[in-house]
Amino acid sequence: MKAVQLADELGSFFVTIEGVEGAGKSTLARLLGEKLKHDGVQVVVTAEPGGDPVGEQIRQLLLNSSNTLTRKAELLLFEAARAQHVERVIKPALANGAVVICDRFTDSSLAYQGWGRGINISEVRMLNDYATGGLRPHLTILLDLPPERGLVRTRSTDRFSRECIEFHRAVREGYLSIAREEPERFLVVNADQPIEVVAAAALDAINSCRLGKESG
Ligand code: TYD
Repeated sequence: MKAVQLADELGSFFVTIEGVEGAGKSTLARLLGEKLKHDGVQVVVTAEPGGDPVGEQIRQLLLNSSNTLTRKAELLLFEAARAQHVERVIKPALANGAVVICDRFTDSSLAYQGWGRGINISEVRMLNDYATGGLRPHLTILLDLPPERGLVRTRSTDRFSRECIEFHRAVREGYLSIAREEPERFLVVNADQPIEVVAAAALDAINSCRLGKESG
Protein backbone atom coordinates (compact mmCIF):
# COMPACT_ATOMS: atom_id res chain seq x y z
CA MET A 1 0.00 0.00 0.00
CA LYS A 2 1.32 3.48 -0.86
CA ALA A 3 2.20 5.80 2.04
CA VAL A 4 -0.40 8.41 1.03
CA GLN A 5 -3.18 5.82 0.85
CA LEU A 6 -2.14 4.40 4.21
CA ALA A 7 -2.06 7.87 5.81
CA ASP A 8 -5.58 8.61 4.61
CA GLU A 9 -7.04 5.34 5.79
CA LEU A 10 -5.80 5.58 9.37
CA GLY A 11 -8.53 8.06 10.28
CA SER A 12 -8.83 10.70 12.98
CA PHE A 13 -6.19 11.13 15.66
CA PHE A 14 -5.76 13.68 18.42
CA VAL A 15 -2.25 14.80 19.44
CA THR A 16 -1.45 17.47 22.02
CA ILE A 17 1.86 19.22 22.59
CA GLU A 18 2.75 20.45 26.07
CA GLY A 19 5.66 22.07 27.87
CA VAL A 20 6.98 25.09 29.75
CA GLU A 21 7.43 28.54 28.17
CA GLY A 22 9.92 28.58 25.29
CA ALA A 23 10.05 24.79 24.87
CA GLY A 24 9.31 25.08 21.12
CA LYS A 25 5.74 23.78 21.05
CA SER A 26 4.39 26.05 18.33
CA THR A 27 7.37 25.43 16.04
CA LEU A 28 6.93 21.69 16.55
CA ALA A 29 3.17 21.89 15.87
CA ARG A 30 3.81 23.77 12.62
CA LEU A 31 6.57 21.37 11.48
CA LEU A 32 4.48 18.27 12.25
CA GLY A 33 1.54 19.78 10.37
CA GLU A 34 3.73 20.38 7.31
CA LYS A 35 5.27 16.90 7.39
CA LEU A 36 1.94 15.12 7.78
CA LYS A 37 0.33 17.21 5.01
CA HIS A 38 3.25 16.32 2.79
CA ASP A 39 2.47 12.63 3.45
CA GLY A 40 -1.12 13.17 2.33
CA VAL A 41 -2.65 13.31 5.79
CA GLN A 42 -5.61 15.63 6.46
CA VAL A 43 -4.34 17.71 9.37
CA VAL A 44 -5.60 20.59 11.51
CA VAL A 45 -3.09 22.53 13.64
CA THR A 46 -4.62 24.56 16.45
CA ALA A 47 -3.68 26.08 19.84
CA GLU A 48 -5.05 26.91 23.29
CA PRO A 49 -6.10 29.29 24.62
CA GLY A 50 -7.78 30.39 21.38
CA GLY A 51 -8.59 28.51 18.22
CA ASP A 52 -11.80 30.35 17.35
CA PRO A 53 -12.94 34.02 17.59
CA VAL A 54 -14.46 33.66 21.08
CA GLY A 55 -11.43 31.73 22.33
CA GLU A 56 -9.15 34.47 20.99
CA GLN A 57 -11.03 37.08 23.03
CA ILE A 58 -10.75 34.95 26.16
CA ARG A 59 -7.03 34.57 25.38
CA GLN A 60 -6.60 38.36 25.45
CA LEU A 61 -8.21 38.49 28.91
CA LEU A 62 -5.94 35.73 30.18
CA LEU A 63 -2.63 36.94 28.82
CA ASN A 64 -2.95 40.69 29.37
CA SER A 65 -0.54 41.47 32.23
CA SER A 66 -2.60 44.43 33.41
CA ASN A 67 -5.45 42.05 34.39
CA THR A 68 -5.35 40.73 37.95
CA LEU A 69 -7.37 37.52 37.86
CA THR A 70 -8.10 35.30 40.83
CA ARG A 71 -6.81 31.78 40.28
CA LYS A 72 -10.35 30.39 40.06
CA ALA A 73 -11.36 33.00 37.46
CA GLU A 74 -8.20 32.17 35.52
CA LEU A 75 -8.92 28.43 35.52
CA LEU A 76 -12.56 28.94 34.52
CA LEU A 77 -11.57 31.22 31.63
CA PHE A 78 -9.14 28.58 30.31
CA GLU A 79 -11.92 26.00 30.60
CA ALA A 80 -14.44 28.28 28.86
CA ALA A 81 -12.03 28.81 25.95
CA ARG A 82 -11.44 25.04 25.87
CA ALA A 83 -15.15 24.16 25.80
CA GLN A 84 -15.59 26.49 22.83
CA HIS A 85 -12.48 25.13 21.08
CA VAL A 86 -13.49 21.47 21.54
CA GLU A 87 -17.04 21.98 20.25
CA ARG A 88 -16.24 24.38 17.40
CA VAL A 89 -12.84 23.20 16.14
CA ILE A 90 -11.49 19.93 17.54
CA LYS A 91 -14.55 17.65 17.47
CA PRO A 92 -15.65 18.69 13.96
CA ALA A 93 -12.12 18.11 12.62
CA LEU A 94 -11.92 14.67 14.27
CA ALA A 95 -15.38 13.80 12.95
CA ASN A 96 -14.03 14.67 9.51
CA GLY A 97 -11.24 12.12 9.91
CA ALA A 98 -8.42 14.63 10.47
CA VAL A 99 -5.30 14.41 12.57
CA VAL A 100 -5.64 17.30 15.05
CA ILE A 101 -2.44 18.75 16.51
CA CYS A 102 -3.21 20.99 19.46
CA ASP A 103 -0.59 23.24 21.04
CA ARG A 104 -1.58 22.97 24.76
CA PHE A 105 -4.72 21.28 26.11
CA THR A 106 -6.01 19.90 29.44
CA ASP A 107 -2.53 19.06 30.80
CA SER A 108 -1.68 22.80 30.65
CA SER A 109 -4.46 23.48 33.17
CA LEU A 110 -3.25 20.64 35.41
CA ALA A 111 0.36 21.86 35.26
CA TYR A 112 -0.21 25.66 35.42
CA GLN A 113 -3.39 26.05 37.46
CA GLY A 114 -2.97 22.84 39.50
CA TRP A 115 0.75 22.54 40.15
CA GLY A 116 1.65 26.19 39.45
CA ARG A 117 -1.20 28.05 41.17
CA GLY A 118 -1.94 25.35 43.74
CA ILE A 119 -5.57 24.56 42.82
CA ASN A 120 -6.63 21.07 43.89
CA ILE A 121 -5.68 18.67 41.09
CA SER A 122 -8.93 16.69 41.25
CA GLU A 123 -10.92 19.92 40.84
CA VAL A 124 -8.89 20.82 37.75
CA ARG A 125 -9.47 17.32 36.37
CA MET A 126 -13.20 17.62 36.97
CA LEU A 127 -13.36 20.96 35.13
CA ASN A 128 -11.19 19.61 32.31
CA ASP A 129 -13.64 16.74 31.87
CA TYR A 130 -16.61 19.11 32.00
CA ALA A 131 -15.11 21.43 29.36
CA THR A 132 -14.05 18.65 26.99
CA GLY A 133 -16.97 16.27 27.55
CA GLY A 134 -14.30 13.67 28.36
CA LEU A 135 -12.35 14.06 25.11
CA ARG A 136 -8.78 12.83 25.70
CA PRO A 137 -5.73 13.00 23.42
CA HIS A 138 -4.49 9.73 21.90
CA LEU A 139 -0.94 11.00 22.31
CA THR A 140 0.68 13.87 24.23
CA ILE A 141 4.16 15.07 23.39
CA LEU A 142 5.79 16.73 26.38
CA LEU A 143 8.72 18.97 25.44
CA ASP A 144 10.76 18.90 28.61
CA LEU A 145 13.17 21.69 29.44
CA PRO A 146 14.46 23.40 32.60
CA PRO A 147 12.35 26.58 32.77
CA GLU A 148 15.47 28.78 33.01
CA ARG A 149 16.40 27.60 29.52
CA GLY A 150 12.91 28.14 28.12
CA LEU A 151 12.46 31.62 29.58
CA VAL A 152 15.60 32.94 27.88
CA ARG A 153 14.38 31.50 24.57
CA THR A 154 10.92 33.09 24.66
CA ARG A 155 10.22 36.68 23.63
CA SER A 156 6.86 36.59 25.34
CA THR A 157 6.07 39.16 28.09
CA ASP A 158 2.55 37.95 28.94
CA ARG A 159 1.16 37.37 32.45
CA PHE A 160 2.64 33.86 32.65
CA SER A 161 6.14 34.61 31.35
CA ARG A 162 6.40 37.20 34.14
CA GLU A 163 5.79 34.64 36.90
CA CYS A 164 8.71 33.78 39.21
CA ILE A 165 11.03 30.88 38.45
CA GLU A 166 9.51 28.77 41.29
CA PHE A 167 6.15 28.93 39.51
CA HIS A 168 7.70 27.65 36.27
CA ARG A 169 9.63 24.93 38.16
CA ALA A 170 6.37 23.73 39.72
CA VAL A 171 4.76 23.66 36.25
CA ARG A 172 7.61 21.52 34.90
CA GLU A 173 7.38 19.13 37.89
CA GLY A 174 3.64 18.93 37.34
CA TYR A 175 4.06 17.93 33.71
CA LEU A 176 6.65 15.27 34.58
CA SER A 177 4.41 13.88 37.28
CA ILE A 178 1.38 13.66 34.95
CA ALA A 179 3.57 11.95 32.34
CA ARG A 180 4.74 9.38 34.92
CA GLU A 181 1.11 8.61 35.78
CA GLU A 182 0.11 7.95 32.16
CA PRO A 183 3.22 6.64 30.38
CA GLU A 184 1.12 5.03 27.61
CA ARG A 185 -0.23 8.45 26.54
CA PHE A 186 3.00 10.47 26.84
CA LEU A 187 6.14 10.86 24.81
CA VAL A 188 8.59 12.95 26.87
CA VAL A 189 11.24 14.55 24.66
CA ASN A 190 14.28 16.54 25.75
CA ALA A 191 13.53 19.93 24.16
CA ASP A 192 17.13 21.07 24.49
CA GLN A 193 18.13 19.59 21.13
CA PRO A 194 17.67 20.60 17.49
CA ILE A 195 14.00 20.95 16.50
CA GLU A 196 14.50 18.48 13.61
CA VAL A 197 15.54 15.79 16.12
CA VAL A 198 12.53 16.58 18.31
CA ALA A 199 10.21 16.55 15.27
CA ALA A 200 11.54 13.19 14.04
CA ALA A 201 10.88 11.59 17.46
CA ALA A 202 7.41 13.13 17.59
CA LEU A 203 6.54 11.99 14.06
CA ASP A 204 7.67 8.41 14.83
CA ALA A 205 5.45 8.36 17.91
CA ILE A 206 2.45 9.74 15.97
CA ASN A 207 2.86 7.19 13.18
CA SER A 208 3.26 4.20 15.45
CA CYS A 209 0.40 5.31 17.70
CA ARG A 210 -1.88 5.75 14.68
CA LEU A 211 -0.99 2.29 13.42
CA GLY A 212 -1.45 0.84 16.93
CA LYS A 213 -4.84 2.52 17.32
CA GLU A 214 -5.96 1.03 14.01
CA SER A 215 -4.81 -2.52 14.79
CA GLY A 216 -5.83 -2.43 18.50
P1 TYD B 1 0.88 31.37 24.72
O1 TYD B 1 1.17 32.70 24.16
O2 TYD B 1 0.11 30.41 23.91
O3 TYD B 1 2.23 30.78 25.23
P2 TYD B 1 3.00 29.48 24.85
O4 TYD B 1 3.68 29.82 23.56
O5 TYD B 1 3.92 29.29 26.01
O6 TYD B 1 1.99 28.37 24.73
O7 TYD B 1 0.20 31.59 26.13
C1 TYD B 1 -0.47 30.64 26.76
C2 TYD B 1 -0.18 30.79 28.23
O8 TYD B 1 -1.28 30.30 28.97
C3 TYD B 1 1.04 29.97 28.65
O9 TYD B 1 1.84 30.74 29.50
C4 TYD B 1 0.46 28.83 29.44
C5 TYD B 1 -0.86 29.34 29.92
N1 TYD B 1 -1.91 28.31 30.03
C6 TYD B 1 -2.38 27.97 31.30
O10 TYD B 1 -1.90 28.50 32.31
N2 TYD B 1 -3.38 27.04 31.41
C7 TYD B 1 -3.97 26.48 30.31
O11 TYD B 1 -4.89 25.64 30.46
C8 TYD B 1 -3.49 26.84 29.01
C9 TYD B 1 -4.10 26.25 27.79
C10 TYD B 1 -2.46 27.76 28.92
